[in-house]
Amino acid sequence: IIRAIFALLTGYLLGSIPFGLLLTRAAGLGDIRSIGSGNIGATNVLRTGNKKLAAATLLLDALKGAVAVLIARYFILPFQGWESSLDGALIVHGAAIGAFLGHVFPVWLKFKGGKGVATFIGVLMALNWIIGLIFCATWLVIAFAQRFSSLAALTAAATAPLFAYAWDGPILAATTAFLAVLLFIKHRSNIARLIQGTEPRIGSSGGKPR
Ligand code: G3P
Repeated sequence: IIRAIFALLTGYLLGSIPFGLLLTRAAGLGDIRSIGSGNIGATNVLRTGNKKLAAATLLLDALKGAVAVLIARYFILPFQGWESSLDGALIVHGAAIGAFLGHVFPVWLKFKGGKGVATFIGVLMALNWIIGLIFCATWLVIAFAQRFSSLAALTAAATAPLFAYAWDGPILAATTAFLAVLLFIKHRSNIARLIQGTEPRIGSSGGKPR
């Protein structure tokens, strides 16, 4: 249990690095929190018009989630193969949950972080890359069909526990269900805008400050 707490904390610290905020600030674009939806994620970085920066945000926010899981798997687990036991899974999944919590509730930003989509993808890729790819595929299908980043993320997150249960097991299903609930909570304003028909589509610069 001490190792699981350590994994959770390590994950949290990694996850709390706000790459969207740091990259846009470094590029001289000002505070991303005062642009578009006010979110620190890749979708909102795209609204600055800088596609490369948005791609880098997506990649780094995903990577920190994956790295958190890999650190737990290779350095915090007492021995390899233990991951299939409940105690071992607690350590590895603890790191995944920690990274997600760090991104969504970073202590450095007074706990006002991102919406968790990229970090969700990152931890999934490291936990079970097939489920990670299914998440990305679901996101892409909805994003191309509807052009709403939020709707694509909500659909991918809502279906992830089902795929996880079918092709991995109850532990990954539980972890993804927990992350999906938090992701839905963080997308409250997007859900309201989708219902009202005012959610900006990908490629438009709109969005309302939170
Ligand atoms: O995942 C982020 C996306 O789903 C919504 O971002 O900036 O439109 O609120 P945003």
